[in-house]
Amino acid sequence: MKLYAAPMEGLTTCWWRQAHRELFGGADKYFTPFLSPNANLRFQQREMDEIQGEPDTVPQLLTNRGDHFLWAARELYRRGYREVNFNLGCPSGTVTAKRKGAGLLAYPEELERCLGEIFDGLPEVRVSVKTRIGKNDPAEWEALLALYEKYPISELIVHPRVQKEFYKGTVHRDAFDRALEAYPGTLVYNGDLFTPSDIGMFCRQYPQVTAVMTGRGLMADPSLLRQVRGGPAASRQELAAFHDRLLALYTARLSGDTPVLHRMRELWNYLSGSFEGTDRPLKAIHKAKDLPAYEAAAQEILRSCPLKDAK
Ligand SMILES: Cc1cc2nc3c(=O)[nH]c(=O)nc-3n(C[C@H](O)[C@H](O)[C@H](O)COP(=O)(O)O)c2cc1C
Repeated sequence: MKLYAAPMEGLTTCWWRQAHRELFGGADKYFTPFLSPNANLRFQQREMDEIQGEPDTVPQLLTNRGDHFLWAARELYRRGYREVNFNLGCPSGTVTAKRKGAGLLAYPEELERCLGEIFDGLPEVRVSVKTRIGKNDPAEWEALLALYEKYPISELIVHPRVQKEFYKGTVHRDAFDRALEAYPGTLVYNGDLFTPSDIGMFCRQYPQVTAVMTGRGLMADPSLLRQVRGGPAASRQELAAFHDRLLALYTARLSGDTPVLHRMRELWNYLSGSFEGTDRPLKAIHKAKDLPAYEAAAQEILRSCPLKDAK
């Protein structure tokens, strides 16, 4: 089973990927948080950082315009990438209001036109798709599957929730089962695989699936994929080294304390899941006004909070 790290905006940045590779042995594939090509036909600086040619990383594009997608994919090809990923899953209101991400799923004709332009124009690049199963209702999935079947999608990564469910409630495993029956291409599963035993159970239940993708579980426990491969759970020293490495990378690359604090707080929203009794220092992390205050609170967790038992 191949193990993919899910794209997570503000979290799985190039620096997180670098630290994760260095300290926890990496994922079979990483995906950049979404890049948004637009009429400017230029990547922003923040986006340029994400596309420095890491061979294990797939850039992800968020757009509803075939021509913008084609421009970005060709530019990425020029930079050495041989796969790009199309985001059809982002549930955020600001994105879906523009008929992008999971918002585009509600407009099958527009989606079809966009996919047609993309696949007609890109014989040289593999295009994978990361999708939800609909906008409002899982019943939309059947028609979406029939649409996806028409294109040579290299991998269809399925997060079996509809947009309006965001990340809550139970995933619709039956929709993934239906895809396994009906969809002739390669499927990757994504959703609510938080622990090594969740992934192990999934692999036993779905031996025909060749890859799974995990997001929040991996953010909470960066050793998750290593454990699935039979390696050890993260030690306190490793978690501290990972944190310190990431903090050093952010401090070197971002200007001023505020953006660094912002990134590190986002990280702790998940990484705190590796520890117990984090309420007080976590509050201090969120209240910290500068890096010294932040570091004191973060070190309290890393040195003193008990590690959660691995499951
Ligand atoms: C904070 C956050 C940011 C995310 N950013 C992206 C993104 O940029 N692109 C994307 O396709 N999915 C994004 N996702 C969705 C994840 O890739 C993944 O599909 C989702 O977390 C479900 O997988 P999980 O249950 O393993 O976490 C994001 C999710 C969260 C919670």
